[in-house]
Amino acid sequence: MTLVDEARAIRERAYAPYSNFKVGAAIRAASGRVYLGVNVENVAYPEGTCAEAGAIAAMVAGGDTEIAEVAIIADAPVPLTPCGGCRQKLAEFAAADVPVTMATVGGEAEVMQVADLLPGAFGRAHMEA
Ligand code: THU
Repeated sequence: MTLVDEARAIRERAYAPYSNFKVGAAIRAASGRVYLGVNVENVAYPEGTCAEAGAIAAMVAGGDTEIAEVAIIADAPVPLTPCGGCRQKLAEFAAADVPVTMATVGGEAEVMQVADLLPGAFGRAHMEA
């Protein structure tokens, strides 16, 4: 199964009763293992979490901290791009050239690298004295 297909399959389990916008995310770690996530909404709206955040949490809990590849998918007219917060979360574990495939349920896909999704990212180098 491709990484997009993994994201497509897990998307069905998204919990999105408020937006009705289901998102699936799949991360392939450097180890080769695949971690999945979905958006999980909450009646207290700001408490909802994105699919990417779920996949990252699963990855860290699974013992991996290096992202090799990402796929996200939604039933959208154009490929879903990760929200700003998720771009920062992905950048924590992904090198600049890691590809992020953004797909639609309808079959469109676009690939961008992490550094292009978050130019000028705040990183560890900024904290070095
Ligand atoms: N959402 C994600 O899961 N990932 C994104 O990158 C963009 C937005 C979710 C959050 C919310 O549950 C729904 O999509 C609508 O914003």
